[in-house]
Amino acid sequence: MWGGRFSDGPSAIMREINASIPFDKALWRQDIAGSRAHVAMLAAQGIVSTEDAEAIDGGLKTITAEYESDGVPEDWNLEDIHMTVEARLTELIGPVAGRLHTARSRNDQVATDFKLWVREAFDQMDAGLAELQRALVTRADEHTGSVMPGFTHLQTAQPVTLGHHLMAYYEMLRRDRSRLADARVRLNESPLGSAALAGTGFPLDREMTANALGFDRPTANSLDAVSDRDFAMDFLFAASTCAVHLSRLAEEFILWASQPFGFVTMADALSTGSSIMPQKKNPDAAELVRGHAGRVIGCTTALMVTMKGLPLAYSKDMQDDKPPVFEAASLMALSIAAMTGMVAGSTFKTERMRQAAELGYATATDLADWLVTEADIPFREAHHITGAAVKLAETRGCALDELPLEDLRDIDARIDERVFAALSVDASVAARASYGGTAPEQVKAQVKRARTELGMDE
Ligand code: ARG
Repeated sequence: MWGGRFSDGPSAIMREINASIPFDKALWRQDIAGSRAHVAMLAAQGIVSTEDAEAIDGGLKTITAEYESDGVPEDWNLEDIHMTVEARLTELIGPVAGRLHTARSRNDQVATDFKLWVREAFDQMDAGLAELQRALVTRADEHTGSVMPGFTHLQTAQPVTLGHHLMAYYEMLRRDRSRLADARVRLNESPLGSAALAGTGFPLDREMTANALGFDRPTANSLDAVSDRDFAMDFLFAASTCAVHLSRLAEEFILWASQPFGFVTMADALSTGSSIMPQKKNPDAAELVRGHAGRVIGCTTALMVTMKGLPLAYSKDMQDDKPPVFEAASLMALSIAAMTGMVAGSTFKTERMRQAAELGYATATDLADWLVTEADIPFREAHHITGAAVKLAETRGCALDELPLEDLRDIDARIDERVFAALSVDASVAARASYGGTAPEQVKAQVKRARTELGMDE
């Protein structure tokens, strides 16, 4: 009925929809590692002869060399990486290759391969985030005393230091890394030997293959082992949260680089120009990091929805688990690298930041706090008095500390000349010396702890 579109009839459609080799070839290294561990165990258990195991292992080493040089041809009839490696092994060593698949199914094989791949992705993402943290800490260290406006509702709230602001992102990434670390622990059980779903009658040593592949132990339930993709979802959850953090940081750079802010000049290497407006320098890398967060979250949604209706054990839907994970992993690697370059290579306009902090009545809270501590006025009343002072300064078009003392005393006679010391932005940040606060001494302490955590002083 649809013959006009397909010259080969339904079997061509089947071949195309069935083939995962276009993407799961990325698992070749893990697939060969799994097979080598499996055959060594089969030999140790006397399930295949030492001679056959050696032939198989030699063939697998040859295939490794082939993948490392020119690759192995892709044939959709072979469906996936597992069949491709086995078919190539048969070409190389003949029918003895058929002994490799003893006591194994592609179901435990793909779960094992994919876990090995995701485990490496955890490690690579963690290493990238550590680099980004180092860049943040290095820049924060330079700016523990650089005053900028702190915002809530994107309205000037209180003065903070740039170092404090950058270290906030250090903390987010610290949590991201701890999410990766705990998911990695949960992942690290070997599905190999679960076979199709029910286990096998062959006398396997699952501890042996688990050890050989760097797993902590074999999985406890074969049905669960072949149908579990939690590790992939964990990766995507952790990646999504991290992508949200990177997107927020990217958004800050985009705002800060805009002319009305003028807080930062981004490195040329991470900016682009406009084909029509010669003055433009666009923060494209930051915008793409912000955009990529949407795609990473989309990948997470894709896998969760794929898994939600599946009965035990394996269903072919699960073949669709890999593209979103691969996509998210490469988007994250790029985004992390871009943000590392942006943090390390940007020029912060500290004079401009300070001016902005001085303009927005950012020290109003300091006036209120001064009234509480020095004039023993209840905070709510102090808040009211301060509001009147801000209103007056606004009418005059001046800063709070530019109001004459008489005018302040007209608002409340309990104000005296000592108040001016509290109204500068430097006094304001210095005063916020509670643990974790914005005072330069506190930020220095945060930087010091972070440098130790990152091993930067070793
Ligand atoms: N290509 C499959 C996947 O990626 C491998 C497992 C196939 N198992 C099966 N019973 N058809 O999920």
